[in-house]
Amino acid sequence: MGVAGAPRHFVCLVCLLVVAVVCFIFVILSAYFGCSVVEDLRFASYYGDHMVLQKAPQRASLWGFGPEGSQVTIHLSGPSTQNITSAPVTEGIWLVSLDPVDAGGPYNVTAVCRGSSRTLTDVLFGDVWLCGGQSNMYFQTSQIFNASEELALSSKYPHVRTFMAALDTSDTELTDLIGVELPWSVPSANVVSQFSAVCWLFGRYMYDRLKYPVGLVESCWGGTPVEAWSSGRALKLCGLDDPEDSPQTQNSALWNAMIHPLLNMTIYGAIWYQGEANANYHKDKYNCSFPAMIDDWRMAFHQGSGWQTAPDFPFGFVQLATYKENTTDDGFPDIRWHQTADVGFVSNLRMKKTFMAVAFDLPDKTSPYGTIHPRDKQDVAHRLTLGARAVAYGEKGVAFAGPFPYRIVSTDESVNITYDQPVSVAPSKNIFEICCSERKAPCGPGSSWVPAAILSWNQTSVQLSASSCPRPSEATAVRYAWSDWPCGFKACPVYSAARILPAPPFLIHKYSGPLKRPGTPPEQDPRGE
Ligand SMILES: *[C@@H]1O[C@H](CO)[C@@H](O)[C@H](O)[C@H]1NC(C)=O
Ligand SMILES: *[C@@H]1O[C@H](CO)[C@@H](O)[C@H](O)[C@H]1NC(C)=O
Ligand SMILES: *[C@@H]1O[C@H](CO)[C@@H](O)[C@H](O)[C@H]1NC(C)=O
Ligand SMILES: *[C@@H]1O[C@H](CO)[C@@H](O)[C@H](O)[C@H]1NC(C)=O
Ligand SMILES: *[C@@H]1O[C@H](CO)[C@@H](O)[C@H](O)[C@H]1NC(C)=O
Ligand SMILES: *[C@@H]1O[C@H](CO)[C@@H](O)[C@H](O)[C@H]1NC(C)=O
Ligand SMILES: *[C@@H]1O[C@H](CO)[C@@H](O)[C@H](O)[C@H]1NC(C)=O
Ligand SMILES: *[C@@H]1O[C@H](CO)[C@@H](O)[C@H](O)[C@H]1NC(C)=O
Repeated sequence: MGVAGAPRHFVCLVCLLVVAVVCFIFVILSAYFGCSVVEDLRFASYYGDHMVLQKAPQRASLWGFGPEGSQVTIHLSGPSTQNITSAPVTEGIWLVSLDPVDAGGPYNVTAVCRGSSRTLTDVLFGDVWLCGGQSNMYFQTSQIFNASEELALSSKYPHVRTFMAALDTSDTELTDLIGVELPWSVPSANVVSQFSAVCWLFGRYMYDRLKYPVGLVESCWGGTPVEAWSSGRALKLCGLDDPEDSPQTQNSALWNAMIHPLLNMTIYGAIWYQGEANANYHKDKYNCSFPAMIDDWRMAFHQGSGWQTAPDFPFGFVQLATYKENTTDDGFPDIRWHQTADVGFVSNLRMKKTFMAVAFDLPDKTSPYGTIHPRDKQDVAHRLTLGARAVAYGEKGVAFAGPFPYRIVSTDESVNITYDQPVSVAPSKNIFEICCSERKAPCGPGSSWVPAAILSWNQTSVQLSASSCPRPSEATAVRYAWSDWPCGFKACPVYSAARILPAPPFLIHKYSGPLKRPGTPPEQDPRGE
C-alpha cells in the first residue's frame, strides 16, 4: 500500500520531483565546490619556504587544509625522497607524518590533491626549538650589546632559520595562527635584527655545536603573565581558573592563539624567558603555575604531533635578571625561587628535563629599554646553551649549573656552607642572610632576616658569621642573593671555580625537609646540626 493510502502514481510524482531538485542542487554545488577545490589545498600558516622540519629519529608532521574527504599526498624531494598520503581530509584538515628524515637538505615538499599542488622550497631537516615568554624573549637582536657585530655574523649561519608568530589573542583554542609576523627566513642582518636575541643566539650557539640545521619558532609577547600562556587544564590544577580573580590578562588568551596552533608541528624542545609579569600577579602561585604549564605543553605537543614531539621534551628557561636597584621588594627573588619549584636548581623531581640560565648577575643600569631589559643576552644564551647541551643533548662533562649547597652546618658562632662543586668566592657583608628564631621551627612570620658576613672560605666552603643573631635565638634558615639586584655585573660573591656560572639564589630552612641534589651523596644531610 502507498503512504496513507495515496495512489501509487502520486507517490512516484513526488519521488521524481524530489530527485530532480536534489540533482539540480548537487550540480550547482559541485560546480561551485569544483572551482574552490583548487584553492582549498594549502599548508597551515607556519609551514613555509626555508623552514626547518624536525629531523630523525622523530617524524616531522605536516598539516594543512584541503577539500573534505580527499586525500593529500606529500612528495619530498631532495637528498632523499618520500611519497606519503594522508588519511581522508576531515573537517577540512589533513595531516601527514613523514618517515624520519636525517638532518640536512635542501628539500622541496609538495602537497598534491586532486590535480592541484602546493610546494615548499628550500626546506631543511634539523632540530626545531620553540622560544616563548615575555619582553625579554621578545627583545630584539638589534637592541643588545654589540648588536652590529652580531648582525654581521648572521649571514654566516644560513642553516639557522627563523619564524615568528604574530601577536594575537583568542577566547577559544585556535587551529591555525591568526597571523605570521616573520615568515620562515634564511638569516640576514635585516631579519635577525627584528628577531628575538635570546632565541637567535641560542640557535646560533647550538648550531656551532650540532653542525646541522636549527629551526627557531618565536611566539612571545611583552608584559604577559604565565596564565595567558597556560591552558585551562593547567590553570585549574593551580586554582587559577576563577575568572573573577584574573582581571589583568585573560587566562589562556595566548595559549589559545599563539601556542595551540603550533601543537601539531613536531618540535625538539622549548626555551622560555618570562616571570617579570608575575612578580606582582599571582606570585605565590608561580611555583605551581610554571611547572604545570611545562607539563601541559609537553603533553599537548606530544599528542598534537601524533606522539612525535617527546612527552618530556627539554625545556630551558632564564631565571629572572634584575629590575630595581636597592629595592627591598621581594617579587623578583620570590619568582626566581618559584621558577625552580622552590628547589633552587633544575632539573629536580618536580621539573624533570629542564635547564636554567641564571641571570641575576647580569644587571644593566643604563639600558635604554629600561633596567628590566638588560642588554647582555649573549651570556644568557650561552648559559642556556650549556644547559641544553647537558640536558637536551646528553653531552657528558658539560658544567651547566652553578654551585649549590649540599651541606650546611651551623653553630652559635658560624654557619658553614659546603657547595657541591669548587667555588670562587669574593667577600660580602650582606649577600648571605640568616633567619634568627627563638623557636626550633621554620623561619616564618615573627622571625627576622639579618645579614651574615662571609668570614672565610676555602675551595668548596664558605663560613658565615652567625653573631648577628641575638641570643637565645639561633639561625634557623639561610638564604643567598635574596633581593631583586643583589650584586653588580658579573660581580656576585659566589661563582663556579671557572667563574662562568653564578651560584643561584637559595633559601634553606634548618627544620624543614631535606635538600637533595641529584648526583650528590644521599647520606649528606644539608640541614646538618
Ligand atoms: C625545488 O624546486 C625548485 C623550483 O621548482 C627547483 O629549482 C629545485 O631544483 C627543486 N629542488 C629539489 C631539491 O627538488
Ligand atoms: C614519488 O612520486 C613521484 C611522482 O609520482 C615519483 O617520480 C617518485 O619516484 C616517487 N618516489 C618514491 C620514493 O616513491
Ligand atoms: C608555593 O609558594 C607559596 C608561597 O611561598 C607557598 O605557600 C606554597 O606552599 C608553595 N607551593 C608549592 C606547591 O610549593
Ligand atoms: C592537532 O592538535 C590538536 C591538539 O592536540 C588536536 O586536537 C588535533 O586533533 C590535532 N590535529 C590533527 C590534524 O591531528
Ligand atoms: C643604590 O645604592 C647605591 C649605594 O648606596 C647607590 O650608589 C646607587 O646610586 C643606588 N641606586 C639607585 C638606583 O638608587
Ligand atoms: C661586546 O664586545 C666587546 C669587545 O669584543 C666584549 O669585550 C664584550 O664582552 C662584548 N659584550 C657582550 C655582552 O658580549
Ligand atoms: C666552620 O668553618 C671554619 C673555617 O673553615 C672552621 O674553623 C669551623 O670549625 C667550621 N665549623 C663547623 C661547625 O664545622
Ligand atoms: C673547607 O672548609 C670546610 C668547613 O670548614 C671543611 O670541612 C673542609 O674540609 C675544607 N676544605 C678544604 C679543601 O680545605
